[in-house]
Amino acid sequence: MVHVVIAGGAGNVGREIVEELIQQGKHKITVFSRTDRPDLVKEGIDVKVVNYANKAELTEALEGVNTVLSFITADPENTAQTNLINASIAAGVRRFAPSEWALASKSGIPHYAYKDVVHEYLKQVKVANPDFEFCLFQPNFFQNYLSYPHKSAKHMFITSIMLDIQQKKALQLDDGAQWTVITSVEDVAKVVALAIDYPGKWPETGGIVGTRIQVKDLISLAQKVRGEPFTVYTVKKDAIDEGIQNSEWLPPADHPSMTPEMQANLAKMLYPDILRALDRGAMDVPPTWNELLPDFKFTDLEGFLNEYFGPKA
Ligand SMILES: NC(=O)c1ccc[n+]([C@@H]2O[C@H](COP(=O)([O-])OP(=O)(O)OC[C@H]3O[C@@H](n4cnc5c(N)ncnc54)[C@H](OP(=O)(O)O)[C@@H]3O)[C@@H](O)[C@H]2O)c1
Repeated sequence: MVHVVIAGGAGNVGREIVEELIQQGKHKITVFSRTDRPDLVKEGIDVKVVNYANKAELTEALEGVNTVLSFITADPENTAQTNLINASIAAGVRRFAPSEWALASKSGIPHYAYKDVVHEYLKQVKVANPDFEFCLFQPNFFQNYLSYPHKSAKHMFITSIMLDIQQKKALQLDDGAQWTVITSVEDVAKVVALAIDYPGKWPETGGIVGTRIQVKDLISLAQKVRGEPFTVYTVKKDAIDEGIQNSEWLPPADHPSMTPEMQANLAKMLYPDILRALDRGAMDVPPTWNELLPDFKFTDLEGFLNEYFGPKA
């Protein structure tokens, strides 16, 4: 048994990983949070309230910890994550996973630029600390979003994406020949659990591939499951900004805290960057952990879609 800390583990995605690790019961799990989390404590989860600005306090909280998984977001200048990395090294933590959990590195998406900065920082600190392992877990986008509006994860917020199977609508770049990877958040949690026990060294960049598919084939699969054609809105690669601004349909950047107008504006801001990342191959992560864990069986995509939209759904 080792001690695993999940920083930001009370949040959207981290909570799913916490759930799986606690359910497996192999390791001591502690969630780091900036505030009291009676909701988690009530469920018997060990929560440590931390101040990421206080390195001495953080280092003390990390004494005896083997692995730190970070799900920290909204961290201007990466202050919290940088301090967490420094404190982890000072406390002798063996393995660290920064707040990646999405696309390939250097995706070009401004919202994700912080991930590349943290990656560079980890590479820099590893030079002086060669035994300190870190891995960027990259599953690309979560399969769970494809079930929208049906809830397919216990905690994670499900939003509409470029393929809205309920509405039978899809946004496609040119002929949709781009490759994408789709991985369920539950599979990511299970892979992380296996990675904690992995006897070898962690790879620096760890792609996780549930399903690798071309966008056009994903749309065809969704049509097959629903048994009806979809309306496909095509954006031309040489006019992405214009195409998104003028598109007759965009998936709403859905969030309970936003008004419909905010959602529409956010979608217009986000989708050009997302399509460019798709075109650049940033959603086609390599099967790094699949190769390291060859016995692990991922959730079948068609089976998943049938569960929510198939004839028996
Ligand atoms: N692949 C995908 O489809 C996908 C989808 C969603 C997210 N992700 C990725 O998953 C990771 C986690 O995302 P999420 O949606 O779970 O995020 P989230 O719920 O918005 O935030 C996670 C946690 O970050 C902590 N946090 C927020 N601001 C902070 C600050 N200034 N300093 C320190 N901690 C702070 C909070 O913890 P406390 O308040 O408890 O301290 C919060 O619970 C991100 O890297 C994101 O890119 C991937």
